[in-house]
Amino acid sequence: AMITLRELMDYAAEHGFGMPAFNVNNMEQVRAIMRAADACDSPVILQGSAGARKYAGEPMLRHMVEAATEMYPHIPVVMHQDHGSDVGVCLRAIQSGFTSVMMDGSLEADMKTPASYEYNAGITAEVVKIAHAGGVSVEGELGCLGSLETGKMGEEDGHGSDEELDHSQLLTDPEEAAQFVKDTNVDCLAVAVGTSHGAYKFTSKPSDDVLKIDQIAKIHARIPDTHIVMHGSSSVPEEWLDIINNYGGDMGATYGVPVEAIVEGIKHGVRKVNIDTDLRMASTGAIRKHLQENPSNFDPRKFYNAAENAMMEICKARFEAFGCAGHA
Ligand code: G3H
Ligand code: 13P
Ligand code: NA
Ligand code: ZN
Repeated sequence: AMITLRELMDYAAEHGFGMPAFNVNNMEQVRAIMRAADACDSPVILQGSAGARKYAGEPMLRHMVEAATEMYPHIPVVMHQDHGSDVGVCLRAIQSGFTSVMMDGSLEADMKTPASYEYNAGITAEVVKIAHAGGVSVEGELGCLGSLETGKMGEEDGHGSDEELDHSQLLTDPEEAAQFVKDTNVDCLAVAVGTSHGAYKFTSKPSDDVLKIDQIAKIHARIPDTHIVMHGSSSVPEEWLDIINNYGGDMGATYGVPVEAIVEGIKHGVRKVNIDTDLRMASTGAIRKHLQENPSNFDPRKFYNAAENAMMEICKARFEAFGCAGHA
């Protein structure tokens, strides 16, 4: 059954666990997450970007989620808009049946330029008003995600953007977070605490204390009723990086956020943990490996299934590690 993000986050806070929120674009991703949730007896957050709706087509994405709830009626599912860039994107998600939307006003509508506090609070408050009127939850974002090593925002290809952020933008200020919640009434708040988007987060192996745990704890103490979201939370599994590169791929050396560090974050108030890159890598690695090992195969179901199984294993591991297993 579909539930809102607010309902799931309130329950998670009460029980002290965290929830992975996986990005979905296609059937195999949806199936991988649902099969893992079924195996672990976990609730689910599926999130779709505007790009996902464009990729699959709005009706296809909507019906895939509906199919997921029909196949697994006992599993609570949140359907969340990831990184809404303006009011229209959020409104279209709501019209599509999403039970939660993210209005990412930390960046201007181009999703590149860091926005002013006034722009962010204003547009987020506008979305909250519309969404709450329809019983839909809202996630906002305060602070800009970027590498604390380079000051650059992460990008999938590892080149990063040219925009250099200063250190203060890269860490969410607890006092400003409290003001933002007051000004907007968001249900959840994405914060900058040391993570960045994409596969190229860290150039050397990070220690387990790579997250700014003090910052998380301080933010949590200031906004205890607003649930903390951590974007850029892929762990960039070394084994999948090796498989990709050993089977014809060419990804550079890179490190993600260790699962142990995320678990520590959850202990200090992180509630929703956004993961996209890990499933992309498992999928790509499994398909490369399958095709190289089975050169005569031309039935796509075989390699799609390999991808689905690889993604499912990662989902299971995150459900177990973050403590949501057994809470469906
Ligand atoms: O943070 C962004 C997510 O990884 C979604 O990426 O916009 O390419 O679908 P996308
Ligand atoms: P990763 O790139 O670390 O998977 O982060 C995904 C994300 O934050 C989606 O909103
Ligand atoms: Na999101
Ligand atoms: Zn994100």
